[in-house]
Amino acid sequence: MPYGQREGQDPSWFASSETCWLPARGAARLATARTTVLGDDPVTATLREDLQVLAAHAGAPGAADGSRRLLVGALPELSEQALGPALAGALESADVPAGEGFAVLARDGEVLLTAARPAGLRHGLGWLTRRFAGGWPDTDVTHVEEPRVDLRVLDHWDNMTDGPMGVVERGYAGDSIFFADGRVRTGAADLARVRDYARLISSIGVNAVCLNNVNVHATEAHLLDEHLGDVARLAAVLDAHGVRTLLSVDFSAPISLGGLDTADPLDERVAAWWAETTKRVATTLPGFGGYVVKADSENRPGPHTYGRTHADGANVLAAALAPFEALVLWRCFVYDCHQDWRDRSTDRARAAHDHFAGLDGEFAPNAVLQVKNGPMDFQVREPVSPLLGALPRTGVAVEFQITQEYTGQQKHLCHLGTQWSEVLRFDLNAHGGGEPLRVADVATRSRRQGGSPTGIVGVANVGTDTNWTGHALAQANLYAFGRLAWNPELDPRDVLDEWVEQTFELPSGLAGELVELMARSWSVYESYTAPLGVGWMVRPGHHYGPDIDGYEYTPWGTYHFADRDGIGVDRTAATGTGYAAQYPAGWARVYEDVTTCPDELLLFFHHVPYGHVLRSGTTVVQHVYDTHFAGVEAVEGFAATWQRIAAHVPGTVSRNVTERFGEQLRSAREWRDQVNTYFFRKSGVPDATGRRIH
Ligand code: GCU
Repeated sequence: MPYGQREGQDPSWFASSETCWLPARGAARLATARTTVLGDDPVTATLREDLQVLAAHAGAPGAADGSRRLLVGALPELSEQALGPALAGALESADVPAGEGFAVLARDGEVLLTAARPAGLRHGLGWLTRRFAGGWPDTDVTHVEEPRVDLRVLDHWDNMTDGPMGVVERGYAGDSIFFADGRVRTGAADLARVRDYARLISSIGVNAVCLNNVNVHATEAHLLDEHLGDVARLAAVLDAHGVRTLLSVDFSAPISLGGLDTADPLDERVAAWWAETTKRVATTLPGFGGYVVKADSENRPGPHTYGRTHADGANVLAAALAPFEALVLWRCFVYDCHQDWRDRSTDRARAAHDHFAGLDGEFAPNAVLQVKNGPMDFQVREPVSPLLGALPRTGVAVEFQITQEYTGQQKHLCHLGTQWSEVLRFDLNAHGGGEPLRVADVATRSRRQGGSPTGIVGVANVGTDTNWTGHALAQANLYAFGRLAWNPELDPRDVLDEWVEQTFELPSGLAGELVELMARSWSVYESYTAPLGVGWMVRPGHHYGPDIDGYEYTPWGTYHFADRDGIGVDRTAATGTGYAAQYPAGWARVYEDVTTCPDELLLFFHHVPYGHVLRSGTTVVQHVYDTHFAGVEAVEGFAATWQRIAAHVPGTVSRNVTERFGEQLRSAREWRDQVNTYFFRKSGVPDATGRRIH
């Protein structure tokens, strides 16, 4: 069946939205087999229903091909008799992973999907759907797979009411799929939409979702009491797909909800209130996973109010959660947002490491520190956060931003899988800093070595738009997040190949062109926006479009210090803020020295004259001109390529992406002209090739 045209069918595979990478065609092949699903737990039961719905879509029942058999069931459900001799023999020699992994075995046209736990069946169904899009296997298959990462979490920044930041803070795809008008969405259509979402994200291996914004306002605080019953209905849907539910909580809830006069984490009454509240939450929500906390950050309350540390704060929640095998994900996005721009000694980039590195080892075993990938805030280019390498004795999760707050807000195409993969492969100890320690090693540590959980978190990019993500091609960012969180070693280009292959039915040449275009889109976005790692040249508040000095004289700690002679932030230990010294010795040396610092981060670490010659051989100012002209040309090329692809995708997608490329081109020209003009006026240096600068 064609992509994204499921409206009005009941029961249907996806009731009210595009199916993204789960078009019925791949899964329908499964449904042409004689299918048996063993087990009655909620996850298996849901999976059985899904296969039945698919069969209905595929034109079955009755159309089932008797020579093909699909058997699905967790290990404890499988009997010799159900398996039959061929699959029983295959299973005997297969090593089915414990936990959330799965095994697929095919012998003589018979296929077994099994797992130690039902959740593994869900993830395995995603694999089968991908694999079987190409046809029912005519050879034997033995495929065993398990996630390399324990925590694979989507954080929604969804509010219950509309406010200055919108229903979904930094959301670019409509309203919240979970909340509306101060309530949890629990209508039949709402729950169907959540079910569709659960199908999508479990197919790529996501295993937890935080429903509400890290900034917990007054209404959302009541998710813990007044709205808990309704939250349970969402949690039940997610749980039936192997996805746990997390809630963001307000650190001062003991005061606002509990009526206490303090939220001091070392006060016994506070500990008792969290214990009692958490017991109610954990026993009400199916698949409750724990809390996410933003404390002492951007005006949110936290333990510092009481002279306590972040460890004190996290541990009181961890103690309340421990009996339920639940976690506290404590965010490290802590910095002074009331800085004086005249003060050159305070450096926001230092803040997370300054606050948390010294606390390593003081957190409870079920506390996880959630660290943004860079030291600032999801800019198109930042160095990797040195804090990620400084917490060997603490649970850690790296946090990426799928929603494109600073990367074109789902109006621009910016494929972030490429960026995340670069971060995951970054070796914090390179250049002689010690044993290799890649960010992927940090994220996979609990799998390899045990200890406190580690993982990968992404700020979700979906909303009520029919295509989920506003820009239809931004679906690929959600897909890439799930796949890389499952296995950070995957090649992001292979992941894009997979996504295109599953989502569209394109002639192979065009499929390759689309992959190529998407793979380049992050670096193209970088080229026409903020250069050389400087960041922040966006319009304040909403963060869309250029405003070179927009943040220069604000309290946010986000400066570039451009003057008539040069630009950039001196973060060296010798003459600057000392941020470079937060890295292990190898990188500290490389970043400290202007001659070895990588070009793409030069202005993050150094203040240099406009005539400074980059490692690439060109000057800073000429680099700015060249990249900004080239960036716009690249977007023109994208739009032209898309015109050839558009004829081969459904009309809704074609129109959506064409319209977005139009806006991207307009905006890229605006970026080019403002940035180039700014640098020309500051420096007085003309473009070496005489192109028009205003
Ligand atoms: C950014 C973003 C905020 C968000 C914050 C966070 O600053 O602009 O909307 O609340 O990050 O991660 O907590």
